[in-house]
Amino acid sequence: MEKYYVSYNRIHSTMKDLAEQVKASGFEPDYIVAIGTGGFIPARMLKTNINRPILTVGIAYYDLNDNLMDHPHIIQWIDDADAKLKGKKLLLVDEVDDSRATIGYCLETLLTHNPEEIAVVVVHNKDKEKRGAIPPQVKRYFAGETMEDKWICYPWDADDILEHDKNC
Ligand code: G4P
Ligand code: MG
Repeated sequence: MEKYYVSYNRIHSTMKDLAEQVKASGFEPDYIVAIGTGGFIPARMLKTNINRPILTVGIAYYDLNDNLMDHPHIIQWIDDADAKLKGKKLLLVDEVDDSRATIGYCLETLLTHNPEEIAVVVVHNKDKEKRGAIPPQVKRYFAGETMEDKWICYPWDADDILEHDKNC
C-alpha cells in the first residue's frame, strides 16, 4: 500500500484549523474525549486552541495476538460516565477515520450516557467504503484532511523521527 508520511508540525497546523472550524460552527464542548492511542497527541494539540479537559477511552479491535475480533471491545472507559457525561457536549478526537468501526462503536457507547451532543474531529478521513457508521444523532463531523486510501505514517510511530521527517 502506498505510504503517506505526516509530520508533527503538519498535524499541529491541522489541529489548529480544526479548532477554528469547530469554533466557527458554534460548538462549545464541555470535554474533549480522546480515543487512544492515536487520538491522544491530536487531542492535546487541539487543547491549545480549545481548552477543555481531556477524557480518554481505549477501544481495541485486535486481540493481544493481533487477530481481528468480531467487534471492537472497550479496554478503558470513563469513570462514573453516566454522571460525568449526561447533558454534556463532547468533542471526540481520533487520528484517522479508516473503516469507521472503532469510531462508530465509540460514538454508540458514548451516546448511552445521554450527552447533550457529540461532535467528531479526525485528523484524516479515508475516502473509502466504511464498515461502521456515524450515528444520526451526531451532526457535526470535522476532518482535517480527506484523502485516498493510503497507509498514513504518523510521526509517533517513527523509530527515527529525523528520517521520518525527510519523507514528509
Ligand atoms: P476507525 O473507526 O478509526 O476507522 O478505526 P479502525 O477500527 O478502522 O482502525 C483500526 C486501527 O488501525 C486503529 O488503531 C487505526 O488508528 C489504525 N489505522 C487505520 N488506518 C491507519 C493508517 O493509515 N495509519 C496508521 N498508522 N494507523 C491506521 P487502533 O487499533 O485504535 O490503535 P492505535 O494505533 O490508535 O493505538
Ligand atoms: Mg486510532
